[in-house]
Amino acid sequence: MESPYDVLGIDADADEDAVVRAYRKRVKDAHPDHGGSLAEFERVRRAYEHVTEGRDPSTFEADVDDDRGRRNGTTGGGDSVSRRQTDEGRGSTRSREESGSAEDSAGEDGERTLGPTVEYLDYEVLEANGWELTDEDLFEKAEAADLDVDRHGLLVVEDRETLLEAAERYGFSWPYACRGGACANCAVAVVEGDVEMPVSTVLTDEMKERGIRLSCIGQPVTDSLKVVFNIERLPGLAELRLPAEQFESARADD
Ligand code: FES
Repeated sequence: MESPYDVLGIDADADEDAVVRAYRKRVKDAHPDHGGSLAEFERVRRAYEHVTEGRDPSTFEADVDDDRGRRNGTTGGGDSVSRRQTDEGRGSTRSREESGSAEDSAGEDGERTLGPTVEYLDYEVLEANGWELTDEDLFEKAEAADLDVDRHGLLVVEDRETLLEAAERYGFSWPYACRGGACANCAVAVVEGDVEMPVSTVLTDEMKERGIRLSCIGQPVTDSLKVVFNIERLPGLAELRLPAEQFESARADD
């Protein structure tokens, strides 16, 4: 029986840095675009979640089987399960209304297709290295820099999920405040691919033409994207920021 440590290729007593480094390497190798498969990619992601959440390694296989069963509709589940199932129907380009059923979406061989994949990069890395958003080889340089997984890596966006929700599901703390299109705290720069925002926002047309999108309401409309997050301090966007604490206290008062 394989443990999550086996999947990540680490010892059971590996420290946090070793876990992150191993995950970052394994998740790239396992990605379908890099010679892996969806099953392998998701297995690595599940192993990372298992280890970082401090769960019992002996339950790993059972959890993976349960997840697989829910995706195949053979076990129960709530909203998050149906979201995974509808995720299976995506085409190469689609709007958020076009999600299909699990039966519609599975390939002829019954294998699930992957949702939009996002290669993300932290703007602080650009600042630290003197890189620019317009650098044509920006993500190649990030790849070569061997950055921590919270700075650079890949994630998959599920159906009806926003970019911010997907990042949070992976355990990342991308910035935000209102979560409703009214500030620029959650802004990202879409370097490749596109993201659709369903409501009008504070962003100007010029910002949108530059690829600026709000991750809290933005959903991918292309199969793959490259985005730079943490850009809220850029000129123009900085003026649109709101204090996150204001919204935290408002929620606490609800
Ligand atoms: S957090 Fe305010 S627009 Fe996204």
